[in-house]
Amino acid sequence: MPIPTLDKEAAADTGLNGVKAANGINGTRDRSNLIPYSSRLLTGRALAQDVWSIFNVANLPEDCINLGQGYMNFAPPKWVTDAAEEALRTVAPNHYAHPKGRLRLREAIAKHYGPSFGRELNVETEIQVSSGANEGQYSVFTAFLEQGDEVIMFEPYFDQYLPSITFNGGTPVYVPLHPNESKEGRLTGDDWTIDFDELRRAMSPRTKMIIVNTPHNPVGKVFTREELEKIAALAEEFNLLVMADEVYDCLVYDDREHVRIANLPGMWDRTVTVGSAGKAFAATGWRIGWLIGPPSIIRPSLAACTRIVFSSNSPLQEASAVGLEQARERGYFENQIREYDERRAVLIDAFERLGMKYTLPQGSYFILLDISSLKIPEDYQFPQMLDGRGQDFKACWFIACEIGVSSIPVSEFYCEEHCSIGEKYARFGFCKDVETLRLAGERLQSLKKYIS
Ligand SMILES: Cc1ncc(COP(=O)(O)O)c(C=O)c1O
Repeated sequence: MPIPTLDKEAAADTGLNGVKAANGINGTRDRSNLIPYSSRLLTGRALAQDVWSIFNVANLPEDCINLGQGYMNFAPPKWVTDAAEEALRTVAPNHYAHPKGRLRLREAIAKHYGPSFGRELNVETEIQVSSGANEGQYSVFTAFLEQGDEVIMFEPYFDQYLPSITFNGGTPVYVPLHPNESKEGRLTGDDWTIDFDELRRAMSPRTKMIIVNTPHNPVGKVFTREELEKIAALAEEFNLLVMADEVYDCLVYDDREHVRIANLPGMWDRTVTVGSAGKAFAATGWRIGWLIGPPSIIRPSLAACTRIVFSSNSPLQEASAVGLEQARERGYFENQIREYDERRAVLIDAFERLGMKYTLPQGSYFILLDISSLKIPEDYQFPQMLDGRGQDFKACWFIACEIGVSSIPVSEFYCEEHCSIGEKYARFGFCKDVETLRLAGERLQSLKKYIS
């Protein structure tokens, strides 16, 4: 296999020989680095110090409120955890699930999603349960990418895409969403636009896939029908597989329409739609996700998934099935949107009072704060691990250490060339209870004295 393009940054970070085992002086073996690791790990920023390890609770003040990482500080609904407990007390769900997923979950997915796809989903051929959306996406890349195949993704992108693509021999191609920075006041997801000429220029004979994440992490953008139609037309023209990452489809606000690209004319046959029980049921640690698509995409993805994990967490599939089965009669998703809407409002109110610009999310649970007006004292001491990182890393560090609220610098979700777009933003998650968000909002008011 040809050696994939190596990350300079990753190679430098490890200080190891990477693909070669090290030999010590005088021929003595350096036992700290006996076995050479795969060159694959030098791709996709896999070994570089990532944003999560920098903005980790261990590095931040003890009482810092964590709005950085995208997991909830509340439990899944009790009737769903009750179902998990019940599954653990029952013999069958404690054993291997079918690699396609437990039938009960596939049936629940078919029933829940069928109407929104306007079709009856076949539980044997059109649904694949995976170990979180992540692993489902990894399986699709394994199933479809040849060495050097290009995958287009919009920036900012969900960081896990990158190594998932490069580990499978693919080459990421980055197309930034462009924020309308000349707009007065707050932006919305609609103000982050695609330059379709730029998107067309990104296409090449090696383009195999495009990832469309709507609602979008971290912008909160819900792609419009018109945008999706234009992407669909390009997918048709260049014969692309479309990965519709819709893990936040249950979190769309203000009665905004969530359009599934798979539903546009001709798109079902080339689209795989990705879902996540983690987002749907506040259970990100359960690692249950799913793929929905035509047999021509699901069959190869199932083959890959079977050889990667064989099958996914069985008892929690059962609980996720109960979640989907009962959601409608309990009004669960409607209520969840109301709760997240309230959480969103608390953080928005804090940013409004601060007088800082932000992007109002139409979906997902993130708000981007424009930090370009922040003036951090020139003599402020940053840790060495921030050397060479963008202004946003420094701003997020400062806010975490001095104000006590952590967020995530958005340049992490850009390639080097487009990094300056992301450097103006910090991502705050509102997947936290209202009380925590209120406290964070109050603390954030102390930023006022640093705004220029
Ligand atoms: C856009 C996007 N896609 C996929 C995932 C992965 O979902 P899961 O936790 O089910 O693997 C996430 C998680 O944060 C995400 O934000």
